[in-house]
Amino acid sequence: MNTYKTEVYLGDSRGVLKKFPKGHFNLIVTSPPYADARKSHYDSIKPDNYAEFMRSFHDELWRVLADKGSFVLNIKDKVVNGVRHRYIWHTIEALSRLGWRCVDDYLWIKPNAMPGYWKNRLRDEWEYCFHLTKQSNFAMYQDAVRKPIGNWTEKRLAKLTGKSTSRHNSENNSGFGRDLRYWLNKNNVLPGNTVSVPLVGKNMGHPAAFPVGLPEFFIKLFTQQGDNVLDPFAGSGTTGVAAEELLRNVVLIDAKKEYFDTMIARLNKTSPSSRERVYFDCKESPEYPSVTNRYTVPVQPILLETPLNYSVQGSSSPE
Ligand SMILES: C[S@@+](CC[C@H](N)C(=O)[O-])C[C@H]1O[C@@H](n2cnc3c(N)ncnc32)[C@H](O)[C@@H]1O
Repeated sequence: MNTYKTEVYLGDSRGVLKKFPKGHFNLIVTSPPYADARKSHYDSIKPDNYAEFMRSFHDELWRVLADKGSFVLNIKDKVVNGVRHRYIWHTIEALSRLGWRCVDDYLWIKPNAMPGYWKNRLRDEWEYCFHLTKQSNFAMYQDAVRKPIGNWTEKRLAKLTGKSTSRHNSENNSGFGRDLRYWLNKNNVLPGNTVSVPLVGKNMGHPAAFPVGLPEFFIKLFTQQGDNVLDPFAGSGTTGVAAEELLRNVVLIDAKKEYFDTMIARLNKTSPSSRERVYFDCKESPEYPSVTNRYTVPVQPILLETPLNYSVQGSSSPE
């Protein structure tokens, strides 16, 4: 039986990632701190400084991502003085200048977004998930995210007449067209580039946890069983929960001790027999003095209580 691995690190991901080999990860899926948000919980970044903040992670993220890998960045602009500050657009432009290809903008739709009234805008109910890659030839497994076709087709496809009995080309000669005959006898279809997942209802021990269904969608779309997934801003470890369910190896990093503890407690609620979990408390290390004076690279793993069948390794190097 295959054994999968979960590694949880307390530290600054810019430092922690230095210990991983080049091209180690097939997917980076993450939600970094949003600008000027959650100041009471963790450091916040001014919108004007945001592109530079994300740029400071570029070297390591680029290095550890496999050439055919994908980087999915979930984030949202904020309203400043009544208008959307476009710090996210500026960030994507800055990342593009560094070589990232912004293949597509997926939208996370929140069907249960917070209700409310704003006199100059409607309820905010979606966030960006930018899909970035290093090259045009990247791994993508579209069949893994197929969804049921829906029962509207039963009626629509029951009797195909007129234009529906052949390919119907677009009236404006755009080259697009549709052929409903292809839909006959199909049980599932590819989804569009929106992902509708409700916000997390219960407290996950983190003020900004995203729902498991969000990383799950991208893990299915861009990786296969046994691949390596990274969340460099892991918070409560939601990406870990999704990756474990889908039998991927996963590395979770957060700079705050409280969330490191939260991740461990959350993951330890389950004990799959085919998984090994390892936890590293990363104290300051003279090895990487340039990284930050708060958290640097792991020096010694700490041994934590783990459920039966779990081994905690004594090595601080990933295999
Ligand atoms: C928006 S939250 C992520 C929430 C997560 N998606 C979840 O579902 O719980 C961003 C996280 O990034 C962490 N963080 C901020 N700077 C970091 C850094 N340099 N290295 C690692 N983690 C960092 C914060 O402590 C925070 O928990």
